[in-house]
Amino acid sequence: MIRFEQVTKRYPDGTTAVDDLSFEVAEGELVTLVGPSGCGKTTTMMMVNRLVEPTAGRVLVDGHDIAGVDPVALRRKIGYVIQQVGLFPHRTVLDNTATVPALLGWKKTAARARAAELLELVGLDPAVHGSRYPAQLSGGQRQRVGVARALAADPPVLLMDEPFGAVDPVVRERLQNEFLALQATVRKTVLLVTHDIEEAVRMGDRMAVYGQGRIEQFDTPATVLASPATPYVADFVGGDRALKRLAVTPVTAEDLDPLPDDAPAPVPGAAPGPAPRSVPLGGTLKDALALLLQDDSGHLTVTGADGRPLGTLTPAGVHRALRRADA
Ligand SMILES: Nc1ncnc2c1ncn2[C@@H]1O[C@H](COP(=O)(O)OP(=O)(O)OP(=O)(O)O)[C@@H](O)[C@H]1O
Ligand SMILES: [Mg+2]
Repeated sequence: MIRFEQVTKRYPDGTTAVDDLSFEVAEGELVTLVGPSGCGKTTTMMMVNRLVEPTAGRVLVDGHDIAGVDPVALRRKIGYVIQQVGLFPHRTVLDNTATVPALLGWKKTAARARAAELLELVGLDPAVHGSRYPAQLSGGQRQRVGVARALAADPPVLLMDEPFGAVDPVVRERLQNEFLALQATVRKTVLLVTHDIEEAVRMGDRMAVYGQGRIEQFDTPATVLASPATPYVADFVGGDRALKRLAVTPVTAEDLDPLPDDAPAPVPGAAPGPAPRSVPLGGTLKDALALLLQDDSGHLTVTGADGRPLGTLTPAGVHRALRRADA
């Protein structure tokens, strides 16, 4: 859907922001671009909607070299969440959200109806927040409006530049999870820029780890964490990369120990007691380990899709699962 072919960008002052970049984002895929400040992430993103033109190489969207596509027509297909949100301060939240449909010539009532629908989708009540100005929102609410605005014209492609950058870690994680749930239904082709490795791992189907103007590794988060391609990547993902991998490694049937013979059969409607220490098959090792560490028993029950217990997971099982994912 988005394809970079040997793309270089040199700014007029001689800065090489991006150097011979090649990668591809499949339709419906979410790719995160992660790297230190100034490594060329925003420049890469802006070459997709022609806010920046490459010095060499080509960028294709939907199979077309965008150098030959009218920028206005191109941007119609591409939602853009800019770094620092960039809401218009003197327009209400509703009108901010309706910006693109209005630019596309929708009738005012239709544009506003669409904007209200989008605000609800990102968890804001249009009746409460729609008539406010951006300064009257919290940071997290502003970021939601930024996402709603980018989605308003239902573009197949979304560019998101540090979309959850300006909020505290708790709100950030909530916005990330909400966006992932949304993405599971809308299936946009997404490029998401971040300098936060945890965010890149959590959000990306695949991730591009940037060095200075270059991609050092482009792969799934699990592979980047298990087998960093270069010492730079290993250093960037951090010495605790094995811990980070817990979040992207699922619990599988091979990792389980048999259920103890005396396991009580689950009784539906039993008296309320402590929450059962169980995780579903396919859940992450991170969630499983968190539960294991909170519990005295040293093992967890793992359940199948029908909720029936399939086996138990022990710390040794977690270790086996990580080693297996390595192989
Ligand atoms: N218009 C410009 N003219 C000259 N140099 C520029 C211009 N825009 C960006 N640069 C330089 O290009 C390099 C890449 O900038 P870019 O904005 O792509 O980085 P980034 O990875 O998005 O960084 P950050 O994480 O801080 O947002 C930097 O060295 C920056 O100073
Ligand atoms: Mg940037």
